[in-house]
Amino acid sequence: MADREPILQVRHLKQYFGKKDFKAVDDISFDVYPGEVFGLVGESGCGKTTTGRAIIKLYNITGGEVIFKGQRISAGPRTFTDAIAAEKKASAARIEKLKNGGDAQAIKDEEQHLAAFIKEQKQAAKEAARDQKDCIRLYRERRAKEIREEYESRLAGAEGDVRRTLEKERDALLHEAAKENIVTKMQMVFQDPISSLNPRMTVREIIAEGLRIQGIKDEKYINQQVYEMLERVGLVKEHAERYPHEFSGGQRQRIGIARAIIMNPDLIIADEPVSALDVSIQAQVINLLNDLRRDMGLTILFIAHDLSVVKYFSDRIAVMYFGKIVELADSDELFAHPMHPYTRSLLSAIPLPDPDYEQRRRRIVYQPAIAHDYSQEEPRFTEIIPGHFVSANSQELARYKAEYGL
Ligand SMILES: Nc1ncnc2c1ncn2[C@@H]1O[C@H](COP(=O)(O)OP(=O)(O)OP(=O)(O)O)[C@@H](O)[C@H]1O
Ligand SMILES: [Mg+2]
Repeated sequence: MADREPILQVRHLKQYFGKKDFKAVDDISFDVYPGEVFGLVGESGCGKTTTGRAIIKLYNITGGEVIFKGQRISAGPRTFTDAIAAEKKASAARIEKLKNGGDAQAIKDEEQHLAAFIKEQKQAAKEAARDQKDCIRLYRERRAKEIREEYESRLAGAEGDVRRTLEKERDALLHEAAKENIVTKMQMVFQDPISSLNPRMTVREIIAEGLRIQGIKDEKYINQQVYEMLERVGLVKEHAERYPHEFSGGQRQRIGIARAIIMNPDLIIADEPVSALDVSIQAQVINLLNDLRRDMGLTILFIAHDLSVVKYFSDRIAVMYFGKIVELADSDELFAHPMHPYTRSLLSAIPLPDPDYEQRRRRIVYQPAIAHDYSQEEPRFTEIIPGHFVSANSQELARYKAEYGL
């Protein structure tokens, strides 16, 4: 996967709430690659939904950045204000030392260095704010430039019909690029299929809403799209006139999925799409998502609170605990070699259809205060073997490596 460009890059994302800075998401980083299912797992309240909502720009993020399809779409101001504050502090300490030596020139240099640093950070903050605000326009401009450049070389030397065909192709792509809204290329399927569907709207109106917001008015086109999406998610045309309360939980989740895919997204954030459903229905909705992934070339960020749901479905899994990612690895790797005690505790909660295993299975309870001693050294998110990351300090890292046989 490493040789491909990620479709989504989450860098040091922070989402704080309220005056007291409640850290719902506290400095998390991960990449999602085109076509994969990336599982985000953790117990209730650990910040999964907040992560999803921050990615699709429902919040102004506090710090870090989100890059989608190569375009930075969000960047939090704290990144820069925090950097300035830290540098000011470090600089003041250096100046204090220099004062003892009485080197006036060195102090001047230090002050200049700090001023330059602050200027740089302020400029970076400005660019971040611009990207966040103008990401739709900036992405369109970049795509147009890329298309022009690509066709410039292809057109060189082309003549007659070949040339005209290429030009037509290019113009069609440019026309598309000029309309593309990068923000709607990410869609979220919401956690609660009841409250996320407006009870006063028909299914037709619900599914068509995104197209209307984009300014599409052609009723024939809209209807045809609505019917096509209904069919894709396993519902029928006749369902379009009904209201959400007339459907079962599984069907409502299908409506939520139809509402998302009508925007022809590249990335779907599926927020616990099956948690509210009967176990018998869960597999159907997961299979539907898998079919859509294959047929529409979708990438899926799949949020769940237990590992059993994501085990077979995800290519990679990130485990989240209290606003932080504590472990991230390929699915098979994570199940074969869980390192972080929280991951182990989640794994110990999964029942298996194996009586011997069930006999031996002991539920491990994660107690951070007992599991870790961070009094001497804080943990860092470290890549222990290629693609397998864990939050640990050096002592833990050494232990995990030894246990792994590295
Ligand atoms: N708008 C908000 N204002 C203040 N606090 C919030 C807000 N949204 C979420 N939180 C808090 O952030 C934390 C993470 O919430 P979040 O909904 O992301 O958790 P979650 O992992 O999705 O949980 P669940 O599995 O129950 O859905 C919670 O403590 C929640 O109360
Ligand atoms: Mg949630």
